[in-house]
Amino acid sequence: MRAIVVVIGTVLWLSGWVLARQVVFLPPELDTPIATTESQHTTPWPANALRDRWPEPVSSTQLRDQLYHNALYAAAAYCPRAQVLDWSCGHKCPTLPRAPFVVHHYAEYAPRGLAAYLGYQMDSAAKTALVVLAFRGSSDVHSWAYDLEFAHLNHTYDESRDARVHGGFYTGFQLLRDEFRIPWQKLIQHLATKELQAVTILATGHSLGGALAVFQYLDFAQNPNDYFPLAWASRALVSLNLTTVGEPRVGNRDFATLVYDTTVNQTLTNVPFPFKHLGVHRLTAHNDLIPNLPPTTLGFYHHPHEYWLSYGIGSHLTQLYRCPDVVTKGSQTRVKENWLCVKGQPTPNMYAHMAVWDIAFGPVCL
Ligand SMILES: *[C@@H]1O[C@H](CO)[C@@H](O)[C@H](O)[C@H]1NC(C)=O
Ligand SMILES: *[C@@H]1O[C@H](CO)[C@@H](O)[C@H](O)[C@H]1NC(C)=O
Ligand SMILES: *[C@@H]1O[C@H](CO)[C@@H](O)[C@H](O)[C@H]1NC(C)=O
Repeated sequence: MRAIVVVIGTVLWLSGWVLARQVVFLPPELDTPIATTESQHTTPWPANALRDRWPEPVSSTQLRDQLYHNALYAAAAYCPRAQVLDWSCGHKCPTLPRAPFVVHHYAEYAPRGLAAYLGYQMDSAAKTALVVLAFRGSSDVHSWAYDLEFAHLNHTYDESRDARVHGGFYTGFQLLRDEFRIPWQKLIQHLATKELQAVTILATGHSLGGALAVFQYLDFAQNPNDYFPLAWASRALVSLNLTTVGEPRVGNRDFATLVYDTTVNQTLTNVPFPFKHLGVHRLTAHNDLIPNLPPTTLGFYHHPHEYWLSYGIGSHLTQLYRCPDVVTKGSQTRVKENWLCVKGQPTPNMYAHMAVWDIAFGPVCL
């Protein structure tokens, strides 16, 4: 008898959820395809699409491996300082035989519980380098999540666009940026003496760290002359990447659009600095609560591009999806949160926030 009740209850709950997602939550919008410099947006879009496009499974193992790797760098930021500094934090501290990863600087701002590290990996044979700036998330994620319910868009990031962000995130980024100013210059001067053919810069972070990484990415892209030697510009040497994991919403929709425009439209930068490539990946997991905060009712909105991990039963069923999150209306390109990825999942909670694949975000680093 109890079993029957449970089964009927489950069926009702599931069908209610499916109906709710189809009928109530999905905003009817007439969306048409756009062509941008990023190939993932050029797939055809049905002209009469009334709802968000279904997420597409990511078939490229190269991209999946890259995001996995970038998530490791984000996870390493949670390790104790000494372990980060000598890069001895087990599987969270990946290294290549030909190109060991060297941590150049670790900075902490204890009053606000902020921390980040700057490291690099140089492959002298291939003449390439990867520079990573990884931001740690909050150590007390539950009370931090509670605070997010009441966050404000109280800092104007770009007046001309009305792009506003949460002041708490932005001041956190500013504090760490000051800590890294001199170490950054020293590291880049060192790399500039090598005859490099390609330099990839990666800003990454999990949770709060993801929010801070977004500002770092924008600062790199919009003020490149503060960060990179002119000789690198003339050779279009630099690729710029942002990978965040479980990132909360950072700003309003105009800010989300700014992140997108900066990525696809390099003429927006103050100084002409040709980047070889810019790539933004916002990784979300299943029904993680944090990417659903701060709430959209307070005016917050996510930036593209969401990549969503859906959990099956057993880790081999975990699938990575690319979530279509950009649309045009008439001549206007707009960013859009996709209801069929992390946003539309039932019962958002913190469990999905604490790990992706086999990577746990916490201070245990073996
Ligand atoms: C913005 O609001 C938050 C509370 O949500 C507060 O902690 C922070 O100090 C405010 N920042 C500014 C710059 O006003
Ligand atoms: C890129 O930005 C410039 C300057 O704001 C603008 O004129 C141009 O239309 C933009 N291009 C695209 C493809 O958005
Ligand atoms: C940077 O992004 C591009 C695609 O957007 C990707 O091909 C490349 O592997 C990424 N690199 C890193 C280090 O994330």
